Amino acid sequence: MAASPLPRWAPTPSPTRPLRTPGTPSAGAGAASSSSSSSSSWRSCVPLLTTFSSVFGSSAARHGGGLSGGEPPPALPDAGRHDIVGGIAPLDGVEAAVERRRKDEMMMSATTACSRGVFLTWDDLSVTAPAAAAGCGGHGRRAVILDGLSGYARPGEVLALMGPSGCGKTTLLDALAGRLSPNMKMRGDILINGLREKLSFGTSAYVTQENVLMATLTVTEAVHYSAQLQLPDSMPAEDKRARADRAIRQMGLGAVAGVRIGGRVCKGISGGQRKRVSICVELLASPALLFLDEPTSGLDSAASYHVMSRIAGLARRDGMTVVAAVHQPSTEMFELFHGLCLLATGRTVYFGAASDAIEFFESNGFPCPLRRNPSDHFLRMINKDFEESEEGSTIISPRAAEVIQKLMGSFKSCGTLRTEKEACAMINQGASPIPQRQATFLTKTYVLTKRSIVNMHRDAGYYWLRFVIYIAICLSIGTIFFNVGSNFASIQARASMLMFTSTLLTMMAIGGFPSFVEDMKIFRKERMSGHYGATEFVISNTLSSIPYLGLISIIPGAIAYYLTGLQRGIDHFIYFAAVLWACTMLVEGLMMIVAAVVPDFLLGIITGSGVQGVLMLNAGFFRLPSDLPKPVWKYPTYFISYHKYATQGLYKNELLGLVFEDIGGGGLTISGEYILKNYLQVELSYSKWVDLAILVAMIIIYRLLFLVIIKISEIVKPRILHFLCASKV
Ligand SMILES: Nc1ncnc2c1ncn2[C@@H]1O[C@H](COP(=O)(O)OP(=O)(O)OP(=O)(O)O)[C@@H](O)[C@H]1O
Ligand SMILES: [Mg+2]
Repeated sequence: MAASPLPRWAPTPSPTRPLRTPGTPSAGAGAASSSSSSSSSWRSCVPLLTTFSSVFGSSAARHGGGLSGGEPPPALPDAGRHDIVGGIAPLDGVEAAVERRRKDEMMMSATTACSRGVFLTWDDLSVTAPAAAAGCGGHGRRAVILDGLSGYARPGEVLALMGPSGCGKTTLLDALAGRLSPNMKMRGDILINGLREKLSFGTSAYVTQENVLMATLTVTEAVHYSAQLQLPDSMPAEDKRARADRAIRQMGLGAVAGVRIGGRVCKGISGGQRKRVSICVELLASPALLFLDEPTSGLDSAASYHVMSRIAGLARRDGMTVVAAVHQPSTEMFELFHGLCLLATGRTVYFGAASDAIEFFESNGFPCPLRRNPSDHFLRMINKDFEESEEGSTIISPRAAEVIQKLMGSFKSCGTLRTEKEACAMINQGASPIPQRQATFLTKTYVLTKRSIVNMHRDAGYYWLRFVIYIAICLSIGTIFFNVGSNFASIQARASMLMFTSTLLTMMAIGGFPSFVEDMKIFRKERMSGHYGATEFVISNTLSSIPYLGLISIIPGAIAYYLTGLQRGIDHFIYFAAVLWACTMLVEGLMMIVAAVVPDFLLGIITGSGVQGVLMLNAGFFRLPSDLPKPVWKYPTYFISYHKYATQGLYKNELLGLVFEDIGGGGLTISGEYILKNYLQVELSYSKWVDLAILVAMIIIYRLLFLVIIKISEIVKPRILHFLCASKV
């Protein structure tokens, strides 16, 4: 680069893009004018950098010169420039005054535009991870993932992160967005407008490599719900809808707006379309800083170009700072990038104007062959992964390790990055990005509840499948225990039927576990993006499950209850259904806790069924309460097992008031109360309603526990992992 005769930020002639001469009118905004997008936004910072040069002397003056090289700021006469720099040699007369005012206004508007934006800089950034986790062996050692990276991103511009797979693009994005995995350790500075500060909601958005979306919603619904969650209550509902619809159109999703996203069970939209929905959702709050990880993966080259050009257009229009990790951009798409950060094995090979990269490679002896896509050329030159398999190849190319070494050496010796970065940091020093206003707690809870009800309704695996199986099982129970009668034999039958119904119905909640895990994934992703908090999620999830669990307790419950011929009287049936409902609510809470702690669904199912099995065993049915071993099983397991209160409540509901007759006749009778007290060892000192009240209290406790566990895992888990990582070093 040092050998380049052109100023540092000047657009370089590329195979497809001729260098525009100063004064050439911009080819217009939007996607059609990719080359203009690049140079015009570099130009937007020129007045600021010129101001900067006046304060910081010669090094800053180099920035002003460099930036203006590609396309100079609109015809500032020399005298005017002097006026900025040193305040000398003012022009005489009206012409000079008009010129000065025009120039002041231009600087003011540029300052305002940039002051809204985020100047992101990082300096000497290194990230390490446990060597075993990074796949480099060496238990207890740490592998370097990123090694002393420096760079910057500016408002209105798109910085592309490129490099071979595994070079650290996602890790760099995660580090910049403050989302590094807890097992990673970071060193170095990341500054927002020159300050070390945390990004508040709406300031930044991150489109992750993996698409995490609610499969059951249509594209329109997903974006609309997200708009209601993210945008403030003060914005009218029609405006929110309009903004969401505009985002959908901008991402070219109009044709699939009414199609479900799809996922685990149903197909839905394509992977590329899913990626665009993820981008739509993140653009809704108009973030000042946008991180994109592989925004074009799964898209054809035309769609990739359109998506990227719209993002670049939005960046230019709103002064948004965009940092995007990209694979394989087409030539046209590459021309949309203002800056390029080329990484290889976690180190910087090149950082600077995207348009200068070809020249940088050329000046180091690696010219881009004619008609080859420049990004293909860069990546091919620095990819070491496939060198061994190319041993027999007839193509004679330099070894990637040597290329990387040479380019890194050349880039380091260039030394311009530091001053460029410092200039960026200084421009907006101290100007905190304005935090965006969000929907209120109540609105978020309401929207989340609505969305969750729709999701539960459409996801057959959540409740409907269970509902059908419950009906089949309850029909089986009803026919097996049909018209159980009131002789002595019916005592055992009634107790077994009640125990089986309550435990099996709760056990079956495990079937919904994969759906819980999906819900947790979506929650974690949206929580990270700051769309809502854990409390809203727990409340909405609880509220939305109440009607469904009510339904699957009442209808299958009624089939089993009336076919068996249990106590007549609607109040007895209501109590029976209420206990079933409470049990299913409880077990859902328990499974949610398991999903929060064990996010893997196979592990979760095993853990959840194990815990339930142990609680069931201690309910006082399989082993009478007085026979349970006192340590552990009686105290405390028996008392904290919700099965105890469910079965005791159901026994009281069924047996109190009944009198059973001896099968052999002879008039021998026995009261239900006697059975409860002496045979089933039920505690009769309190009524069945107390048992139900305890179950309801347990529902609340379980949900609170779920909330606490989410909060604790958010706060404590990273610290524990950090501590463990630190103690290994
Ligand atoms: N949490 C982690 N713990 C340990 N090592 C990790 C972790 N995350 C990433 N790595 C390692 O860091 C390296 C860089 O990973 P990263 O995902 O940043 O690469 P990438 O450039 O985004 O690759 P791709 O283009 O394939 O997405 C890889 O070798 C990976 O194994
Ligand atoms: Mg990646």
